[in-house]
Amino acid sequence: MQRRDLLKQTALTLAAFTLSRDLFAAEAEKFAQLPDVDKIIKLSSNENPHGPSPMARKQMMEAVNGSNRYPWDVTTKLREEIAALTGHTKEHIVMGAGSSELLGLVAVWAALKKGNAVAPDPTFRLWMPAARKTGLDIKLVPLTDKKMTDLQRMKEAMNDQTKLVYICNPNNPTGTVLPAKELEAFIKDIAPKAIILLDEAYTEFSSEPSMAHLVNDYPNLVIAKTFSKIYGMAGARVGYALAHPTTIKQLNELQPWANAGASAVSLAGALAALKDKTFIDFCKKENALARSIFCKALDKAGIPYIPSETSFIYFDTSNFGKDVKAMLEAKGIVGARTFEEGTKWLRISVGTQDEMKKAAAALLS
Ligand SMILES: Cc1ncc(COP(=O)(O)O)c(C=O)c1O
Repeated sequence: MQRRDLLKQTALTLAAFTLSRDLFAAEAEKFAQLPDVDKIIKLSSNENPHGPSPMARKQMMEAVNGSNRYPWDVTTKLREEIAALTGHTKEHIVMGAGSSELLGLVAVWAALKKGNAVAPDPTFRLWMPAARKTGLDIKLVPLTDKKMTDLQRMKEAMNDQTKLVYICNPNNPTGTVLPAKELEAFIKDIAPKAIILLDEAYTEFSSEPSMAHLVNDYPNLVIAKTFSKIYGMAGARVGYALAHPTTIKQLNELQPWANAGASAVSLAGALAALKDKTFIDFCKKENALARSIFCKALDKAGIPYIPSETSFIYFDTSNFGKDVKAMLEAKGIVGARTFEEGTKWLRISVGTQDEMKKAAAALLS
């Protein structure tokens, strides 16, 4: 990759998650100043450093030849494969260009009903601007002091105008995971009253199961899934939502048509990635090993952190006395940043073992 392209990509990725255009400009400028930008280690967006899988790469290359045609076949096959995996039918699945497209779609669908949305804070926010623009008032509910999504307070924040409740499990950026029993009870209680948008971008890294089995019983439950994380295909832009067929139909109506999203090449890659169990197991194991390298360094440095079952780590540098973000950036390691203004909690993505050894060394230097 060209130096300028890498710079631009790094800056854009960081900017996508910040709150203002001013911050975007400041970040872009800062990384432009880095001395050896070609050697940057990018730990900002929880991308899988190993993907795409060998099988996905092969299928994507072959699919280039057929990309003069719209991808009806592969979309249908992919929906069928996902349905088989989740115990549903293809009518329970809508594909999108990444799960963020579908998060936005569900937010707009909820906004059409007019009212408010309830979400934890901090959490994954990309869907919020579109929701606000289309008229949803968003009530943010602080996490518990253990950084868990506070289901009780979220319930209390709801009123008869609440049309959407967003939950990210495991939660980004904290990595905390709601136990399946608690989450299931919450869904059963809330789903008759409001749309529940459950973001399962990181479930495959976690020991807690998906809530996919509930979608047939609760038409208000929409589960967003992505090929960007464990499958290592963030740049290919493939995601899907799982919901009751009546809900999927309504979401379909908000998309221009079935082929408006991911490309034929990306969909072919996703189809192969889904079946590449060896690669998925490898990514999960490597992620855990690389994560533990950085966690051990945090232990050594006396920095508290949330035990993580995801591809990122959330840690509290309040009592460390040094600027960890700056220490990492001085060694060309970018991406550690705060999601809670006024605190010194930082999130860093998990890279390869080698990258995390470098991050650990920078932290302990
Ligand atoms: C919780 C969460 N949901 C959704 C996404 C978006 O993923 P996609 O690449 O599928 O749009 C991300 C990306 O970082 C994420 O962290």
